[in-house]
Amino acid sequence: MKKAKIAVAYSGGLDTSVIIKWLMNKYNADIITVTGNLGQKKELNGLDKKAYATGAKKVFIKDLTHEFVYEYIFPALKAGALYEQAYPLATALGRPLLAKSLVEVAQMEKATMVAHGCTGKGNDQVRFEVAIAALAPELKVIAPLRVWEFKSREEEILYAKKHNIPVAATVNSPYSIDENIWGTAIECGVLEDPMIEPPPDAYQHTVSPEEAPDSPTLVAINFKEGIPVGLDGKKLDGVELINRLNDIGAKNAIGRIDLVENRLVGIKSREVYEAPAATILYFAHTELERLTLDKAVFHYKYHVAQEYANLIYNGLWFSPLKQALDAFVDETQKSVTGMVKVKLFKGNVTVAGRSSPYSLYDSELATYTNKDKFDHNASEGFIKIYGL
Ligand code: ARG
Repeated sequence: MKKAKIAVAYSGGLDTSVIIKWLMNKYNADIITVTGNLGQKKELNGLDKKAYATGAKKVFIKDLTHEFVYEYIFPALKAGALYEQAYPLATALGRPLLAKSLVEVAQMEKATMVAHGCTGKGNDQVRFEVAIAALAPELKVIAPLRVWEFKSREEEILYAKKHNIPVAATVNSPYSIDENIWGTAIECGVLEDPMIEPPPDAYQHTVSPEEAPDSPTLVAINFKEGIPVGLDGKKLDGVELINRLNDIGAKNAIGRIDLVENRLVGIKSREVYEAPAATILYFAHTELERLTLDKAVFHYKYHVAQEYANLIYNGLWFSPLKQALDAFVDETQKSVTGMVKVKLFKGNVTVAGRSSPYSLYDSELATYTNKDKFDHNASEGFIKIYGL
């Protein structure tokens, strides 16, 4: 009989390393690992060797950063999607792309099963499995963490030792961290107590406001149809632009988010995020919309933003609703071209200027000087009817 093939979403961490061996034993299968680079700072060098050393038959490491930025992050930015008005959705946006890449490899390699390392109480299992079902319903999904015998990390480490699985020394970090170019999510350890302020070692990239420089940093962000295209007037590729804003933002303590959030699976959890570029870009993008969007569109777009954030968070990226909302959002972005100058200072982002060829701000209507063209007398009739 031909050996079964399983494609595994592999990060190189303890869980997915143990998964390789565990699946090999349980299913007598050939394991193909699939790793996506979503622009995280963590090196992926040596990951292929590690996967082979653990027992993988074939290893795929794909750089998905550019696709992630242009096909996932920027649509969410244009929509203004922030989950529960706070979380820029870095992890949630990455999952459908990783799932897509896993499916592509599985189909190419004729694997009939795929596996992931998500836990049984998180959102990520839902995002992975709903995306896989949308793209390739014929694939059987295995979620080892939901079914296997290990009750703790210690038990997994013992299993790894017994089977000569190489595991990094960093497994004793008290936190569970997920990172990509759009942000870092940190949970577990002392962070499980919502009353405890995150200790300094919880933060991976940003300095505290206290440590940030005593003078502000100014950056001008150029947008074209809702997409950031340059900094200080210089054209930049989206990946480079986000990397730079992450660096500048982190130095100025921008983008720390401490959130008690509502998970799809019904529980509240406490997560700490670092997302400097996302924080700056959401702020700047909204400032430009304040200048260029008509009032009715600007107001209506709040609802769409919330709906869009919910569908990303809840794993419905590959859905008709997402496509329909994209069409609406893209229509609104036709005039979102221009420049926003932001001031970064000790954890705060403030606006220091904005301009656009499509600005709807009319100084002759707004001014209180003798240049005023507003018909003050017409207000009387307007108020009379409006107040009826
Ligand atoms: N709470 C976030 C979400 O559901 C992040 C999940 C992963 N977090 C982590 N620290 N491993 O999108």
